[in-house]
Parts: sequence; structure tokens; C-alpha cells
Amino acid sequence: MKIDILTLFPEMFAPLEHSIVGKAQEKGLLEINYHNFRENAEKARHVDDEPYGGGQGMLLRAQPIFDTIDKIDAKNPRVILLDPAGRTFDQSFAEELAQEDELIFICGHYEGYDERIKTLVTDEVSLGDFVLTGGELAAMTMVDATVRLIPEVLGKEASHQDDSFSSGLLEYPQYTRPYDYRGMKVPDVLMSGHHENIRKWRLEQSLRKTLERRPDLFNDYDLSDEEAEMLRTIKVEKEENND
Ligand SMILES: C[S@@+](CC[C@H](N)C(=O)[O-])C[C@H]1O[C@@H](n2cnc3c(N)ncnc32)[C@H](O)[C@@H]1O
Repeated sequence: MKIDILTLFPEMFAPLEHSIVGKAQEKGLLEINYHNFRENAEKARHVDDEPYGGGQGMLLRAQPIFDTIDKIDAKNPRVILLDPAGRTFDQSFAEELAQEDELIFICGHYEGYDERIKTLVTDEVSLGDFVLTGGELAAMTMVDATVRLIPEVLGKEASHQDDSFSSGLLEYPQYTRPYDYRGMKVPDVLMSGHHENIRKWRLEQSLRKTLERRPDLFNDYDLSDEEAEMLRTIKVEKEENND
């Protein structure tokens, strides 16, 4: 995958040189190029200007962004504009992006963008319902979540399949050595070596956690017969306990 990032602060992306995203680049699975669009700004390198009609703050001008995009060698890129008014980023969107060969991220700053920049983009995307000072942290988060889904980036293909949201449910609780830590013991079923019982326990725990923390996730989730039965039992049990 090739990723091009338009930003006024390329140095902010240093974290992507480390850990899994850094290794993906070393392995040749990923190429990231940074474009400081200030370098392409005409008009004394000004990237921003006052809004027509008045109002507070400065807007990113169209020219530096258009000229920078023109210089990027990409055939059919997905062009993502970081914007709090865009669709909210989530795991299914990361999965969609991980299928692409070329991504371009445009990181905003100041008050916002000249609206005409939006004619260049395929997706306007927000990290969540809050306002950041710039698009860099949002872009980094999206790159990280997307890159780990590219085949061969994680050690084992299965590593992300049980993650929260990948299956549509939240992930079940997990334990590692020692068996007894400060009196807190690992659930017996995980020590049993009985694979089917372990699978059922994990599924039941995922359903329970999702019901307690993110019941909205069930709106878009097709329950299997087994899951529907488990969920019914959990709900009855909770009603009995007045949970
Ligand atoms: C200070 S914000 C501008 C906010 C804008 N005036 C508004 O109300 O929508 C500057 C830039 O940070 C980025 N940004 C801020 N919050 C974001 C979010 N939640 N998701 C993605 N990008 C965000 C965008 O690129 C935005 O153009």
C-alpha cells in the first residue's frame, strides 16, 4: 500500500516510524510519503487566508492543496479529508481502506478548508465528536488502524480477527501467566484444555460485554442461532439479578 499525507507538520508523524507500522515499511509492505503543502504555496508561501464574508479564523487555501495533489503519482487513490464534520471513522471503514492500494490523507489546520478543496476528495472523515487542533493525530490513528489489517503486517493472520469490532462484538477477557496473581485466578475453563468449552465461554463473554458496554453494536450484527440463545440466557439472568 502507498500512503501520501498532506500536512503542514510532517515531523508530527514520527510515531509511524516505530512498532508495527514502522516494520511494515521496513518489510516493503507499506510506503508513506509526506508532503508539506506549504512548499507548494504561491503567494509568499501562505497556505491560509481570511474567509470571504467575514468571520473568525483562517482557512486553508485551495491552491497549495490542489498543486500538491497534482504532483502525487497515484492512479486511483482514495482521498481522505480529515474533518470533524465527516463520517466517523470505525473498524469497518479501516477494513475498507485496507483493501485499497493508494490512500491520500489531507490534514487540515486553522479554522477549516476552502470548500473547493472538497472536490478533490472521495471521503470526508472524522475521528470522533471532538475538535482537534489539526488533522495529523486523526490521520495517524487512521493509518495505524488500517495498516494493521493489511495481510502479513501482523505476525499471525488471525491476530486481528478476534479484535473488538472486527467480529462485530467486543473482545472477550484474556489472561496470561501466572495462573494466580495476588489471589486473582484465571477462570477454570481457560485452564481446562477443552477447546469447545473455551470457544463457548469466550463467545458468551463477548456477548455479555457487548450487551453491557455497547448494546448499539447489536443493531448491525446478525446473531447466529447459538449467539441468539446465549444472549437470551444472559438477559434472563440479568433480569433475575436486577442487573
Ligand atoms: C480546529 S479544526 C477546525 C474545526 C472546524 N472549524 C469545525 O468546526 O469543523 C482544524 C482541523 O483539524 C482537523 N480535525 C479537527 N478535529 C477533527 C476530528 N474530530 N477528526 C478529524 N480531523 C479533525 C481537521 O483537519 C480540521 O480542519
